[in-house]
Amino acid sequence: MTELTHFYQKFQPTHYDLYIDIDRGTKVITGKTTITGDAKVKDISIHQKDLTIKSVQADGKDVSFTTENQNDALNVALTKTGEVTLTIEYSAPLTDSMMGIYPSYYEVDGVKKQIIGTQFETNFARQAFPCVDEPEAKAKFDIALKFDEQDGETVLSNMPEVKTENGVHYFDTTVRMSTYLIAFAFGDLQSKITTTKSGVKVGVFATKAHKANELDFALDIAKRAIEFYEDFYQTPYPLPHSWQLALPDFSAGAMENWGLVTYREAYLTLDPDNTSLDTKQLVATVITHELAHQWFGDLVTMKWWDDLWLNESFANMMEYVSVDAIEPDWHIWEMFQTSDVPAALQRDATDGVQSVHVDVEDPAEIDALFDSAIVYAKGARMLVMMRALVGDDALRKGLKNYFAAHQYNNAKGADLWNAIGEAAGMDVAKIMNTWLEQPGYPVVKASIIDGELTLSQEQFFIGDGVGKERQWQIPLNSNYDAAPKIMADKTIVIGTYDKLRKENDKPFRVNVGNNSHFIVKYDDELLKDILDNIDSLDSISQLQILQDLRLLAEGNQISYSEIVPLLPKFAGSHSNVVIATLYRVANDLKKFVTPNSNEAKSLEKLFDKLSSDQVKRLGWQPKSGESNDDQLTRPYVLNASLYAKNPISIESAHAIYVDNEQQDLSAISADIRLFILRNEVKNYGTEEVFDNLLDEYRKSSDASYKEDICAALTATPDPKLIKKLVGFFEDADTIKPQDLRAWYRGLLANDAGQEAAWDWIRNDWQWLDDTVGGDMEFTTYITVTAMIFHTPERLAEFKAFFEPKLNTPGMTREISMDIKIVETRVKLIEAEKDAVNEAVSGLVD
Ligand code: BES
Ligand code: ZN
Repeated sequence: MTELTHFYQKFQPTHYDLYIDIDRGTKVITGKTTITGDAKVKDISIHQKDLTIKSVQADGKDVSFTTENQNDALNVALTKTGEVTLTIEYSAPLTDSMMGIYPSYYEVDGVKKQIIGTQFETNFARQAFPCVDEPEAKAKFDIALKFDEQDGETVLSNMPEVKTENGVHYFDTTVRMSTYLIAFAFGDLQSKITTTKSGVKVGVFATKAHKANELDFALDIAKRAIEFYEDFYQTPYPLPHSWQLALPDFSAGAMENWGLVTYREAYLTLDPDNTSLDTKQLVATVITHELAHQWFGDLVTMKWWDDLWLNESFANMMEYVSVDAIEPDWHIWEMFQTSDVPAALQRDATDGVQSVHVDVEDPAEIDALFDSAIVYAKGARMLVMMRALVGDDALRKGLKNYFAAHQYNNAKGADLWNAIGEAAGMDVAKIMNTWLEQPGYPVVKASIIDGELTLSQEQFFIGDGVGKERQWQIPLNSNYDAAPKIMADKTIVIGTYDKLRKENDKPFRVNVGNNSHFIVKYDDELLKDILDNIDSLDSISQLQILQDLRLLAEGNQISYSEIVPLLPKFAGSHSNVVIATLYRVANDLKKFVTPNSNEAKSLEKLFDKLSSDQVKRLGWQPKSGESNDDQLTRPYVLNASLYAKNPISIESAHAIYVDNEQQDLSAISADIRLFILRNEVKNYGTEEVFDNLLDEYRKSSDASYKEDICAALTATPDPKLIKKLVGFFEDADTIKPQDLRAWYRGLLANDAGQEAAWDWIRNDWQWLDDTVGGDMEFTTYITVTAMIFHTPERLAEFKAFFEPKLNTPGMTREISMDIKIVETRVKLIEAEKDAVNEAVSGLVD
């Protein structure tokens, strides 16, 4: 007999009655859960975590039970199999862990308040009520909530409230759904509500610490996104309402609970009068991501967590598809190209990385699957590649069939490929599984060999890689018709180069549009041809050329010093994506210089050379009516100019600070505010400036302003202020645990603050583990550290600290990859620094 690893195989619930009583005063939850279901065996198990079980009855009679903490089980001995109704009475603590049922803290007019909310993905529903807490165990839920209620408080859940009786709020029965999507919340909330064309009520809810108009942007996007998805999926939104709720304490970014989506405040509320375009775009994509899940994930759910990509990769693609449809002027796919694509290409090149589809059983490992660069970014790119291959008509037809076949049920990856493959008349699974199941991606080498244009593929690595001879089915998207649509072999010959070049009358290229997940290494002749014609290329192609060269340099296949002379060619571009990529490369050069050295001075000069004309062209203040490109470009060039210590820029930024100091620093245009504040702290930073900003941080409920202050304060060069800053890291009244990583990372990236930040995390690791451990964000403290370290000394310290933690469940992969990442960087710097610095000084001296 095979082992029954999933509780669902033993007991299949069909209906839950949840009665939950939450006392905020005593921080105790008491509950009674009634589960009706089908027992396949007599000894069944139900999930619970940290619950004190008072009694268990089966069909009204007490039965014996045991709890087992190691696998979160409540084991119940039944006397027969078949349909049974279990009644379980329990209590549980209400803790500040941001998992299960938990309080969020905030202040309005100096009065401390809290709202209660929930976070059940991946497996925290079991901390709120006993249940078979597996995505496949779908059932219907009747929820009843009681709490120490005060006048005027709002209560929300997946479904509308149907009645209140004796202080108990009863909600309508849900549709058939997974436990991880159950949600409820209550507190003193404000809201804005509208209705879609099809009659779905859409609402945005937030605390009263926000101005009412901060809810407007989200409401508009949410409404139009639902209308878009109903059309695109050809499947109606299945619930009566779609609530969006901002919670002041939130571990992830946002969570797609069915009908009650929860968000970090930063990703829902915004000041419509002073928020930068890129922040608006980000918020819009977060909302559209979660709303994409209402179908993909909620209506049809992965059978098990190994197919998490069905949820996350898909939602990550759809967030762009939908924003592109509702805000076409934003050209939102450009954001995909400057954020997701480089993240995926960088991380996926490290040996040991996970594949998009990963087998998994241990709950601690399930959370570790949410690797944003892989399951999100690479997974989305894989689907973008598929979409380009089959076209939107086949995609939509396939999706419609997929929803019809699996709604209120579960699916596996193969079900999606089959549905789309059938609609497209193509073996989609065969092509896509090479991307889904294998880690890494190929570099396609394009060369002229004996006069023949030849392509070959091999896995691309940054750092050492164990060549498993992996091969991919690569959608080539060449601009020469003679190239095949799919490259399946290791090597292919396209034809005689001279003849092809004449016929096509343009430089040879592959991966036009940059939608396939691979990079290209052109030989010298082909690359020269492209670079000689660079001005005729569109901005995505220019980005791609720079990006691929950058990766090849990271992977030691070319030298960074070969890229340096190309940078000035792109510096005058009016395209924000070209500028973004240019500065990505330029910022990469910083690791090759020692602070305050002559090399550092030369690099500063290079930054000045790259940015000065653009700073003049764009000016410090955003202008009304300027293009999106200009708005998005300005931050990059101002940042570069300040890095270059350009005296006019430093003075201009200071003048803007002084102008606003007496009234309201938050009123400085959000497009430039970060640079103004940081410049002030760095170059004019008295303790008074520091204290004032920290005070602003504590008081403000504008998340983007708070982020700017965080970035400014962590850049302080003053040892005394650095010490003071670290002193606030564990003070939740100043820095919420959900925001701490940004402070840690900011200080670690500051040469003057690195030691203090690094000492803090090493000394207080246990505190961090107690505070945010068990949470999906926890391991990212290691990730961000590894992104910054680049000296042999730090590498040794990093290893000494993290190697002993290698066997911690859920951390193994991250630690071993991060050691490798820092090792590779240290080696690269050693090998390249002289050539790079020479190339830089060659341009400026
Ligand atoms: N389902 C996730 C949230 C989540 C992630 C819960 C990991 C539990 C564990 C949600 O849909 C999501 O992907 N959120 C993102 C933001 C999103 C817009 C990319 C997140 O939280 O980072
Ligand atoms: Zn998601």
